[in-house]
Amino acid sequence: MATDALINKLNSLGEEFAEALAALSSEQDIREIQARFLGKKGRVSALMGEMGKMAPDDRRTIGAAFNKVKDGIAGSVEAKLSELVARADAADLARTIDVSLPGRTRSAGHAHLLSQVREEAVAIFGELGFEVAEGPQIETDFNNFEALGFAKDHPARDEQDTFFVDEGRFLLRTHTSPVQVRTMLSEKPPIKIVAPGAVYRRDDDPTHSPMFGQIEGLLIDEQVRFSDLKGVLLHFVKRYFGEELDIRFRPSFFPFVEPGAEVDMQCSFCAGGDSSSCRVCKGTTWVEIAGAGMVDPVVLENCKIDTERYTGFAFGMGLERMAMLRHGVSDIKNFYECDMRFLTQF
Ligand code: PHE
Repeated sequence: MATDALINKLNSLGEEFAEALAALSSEQDIREIQARFLGKKGRVSALMGEMGKMAPDDRRTIGAAFNKVKDGIAGSVEAKLSELVARADAADLARTIDVSLPGRTRSAGHAHLLSQVREEAVAIFGELGFEVAEGPQIETDFNNFEALGFAKDHPARDEQDTFFVDEGRFLLRTHTSPVQVRTMLSEKPPIKIVAPGAVYRRDDDPTHSPMFGQIEGLLIDEQVRFSDLKGVLLHFVKRYFGEELDIRFRPSFFPFVEPGAEVDMQCSFCAGGDSSSCRVCKGTTWVEIAGAGMVDPVVLENCKIDTERYTGFAFGMGLERMAMLRHGVSDIKNFYECDMRFLTQF
C-alpha cells in the first residue's frame, strides 16, 4: 500500500469512528467501539502493521498521522463521556422529586394505654372463664344505687356524687357495679362476668379524674366462698403485676357486699428494696387496687336470685390506677391529654 493510500485509510477510519460515536449514548457502547478501533487487535492497530512496509522516509509522516487519528479518537471519547455525565447531571437537577430526601414514613398507630390495660385485664379474667358484660354510661338511679343498697338518703352516696338528669331518675354511672344488677336481672346463675367501662364522679386531683375506667367482676353460683374471691384476685395480680406479689384484704364498707373489703397488693415499685422513700406506696409497702366482697343477699333478692341456693362475690378495680401502678405514671391527666410524647411510650 502506498503511503498516501495508508494515510487516507487512516483518516477515513477516523471519520468512521466519529460518525459511529455520534450515534452512541452509553458509556459501555462507547468503550466498546473505542476498543474496536484502538484496542490491540483494533482496526487502527491493524494498520500499524503496514507501517513497517513503507519507505523509511515516509514513516515519520505516517507515524504523525497515526498519532493524530489515535489522539483524535481518544479525545472525542473523553469529550463524549463528559457530555453524557453533564447531561445526566442536568437531568438530575431538572427532576422535581428529590430522590435523595429521606422518605416520609407513616407510623402505624396503636391502642391507647388504657385500652391495652382494659383488653389485658379482660383477657386475664377470660382465662378464668369470665365473660364480658356491658351496660350504659347513663344509668338509672335504681341500677346504680337503689338495687345495690344505697337508699336515697344513704351516706355512702356522698362519695359518689355525679350528674343527675330527669329529676334524678337517670345519672352518669358512678361505678361499673350497675352491670351486676343488669346481668343478674337478665340472666340465671351461674353468672361469671367482668364489666369494663367508663364511670363518672365529682373527683378531680392527680390520682382522680371526673371520668375514669373501671373493671367489675361478678361471680354467682352455688358454694361460692370468700377464698374464691381471693384466688381470683391473687391470680390477676400475679398475671398483671408480678408473680412475686401478694395481696391482702382490709375490712371496708360498700352497701352491696357483706363482708366488704378493700384489696391491697404489695407495692411493685419497692418490692424487695427500700420502701421508706417509695412515692407509690408512701412507705407502706402496700397499694390499694380494688374494692371487693361477698354479694349482699339483699342485692341478690333485689335481683330475684334465690339466696338459699346462691352466693357470690364481686370486685371493682380502676383501670387508670392499674396503668399508673404498672408504669409509674404519677398524674392521671396524662391519659387524657393526647400528648404523643406520653402516648407513644406504651
Ligand atoms: N363499686 C365500688 C366502687 O366503685 C367497688 C366495688 C365493686 C366494691 C364490687 C365491692 C364490690 O368503689
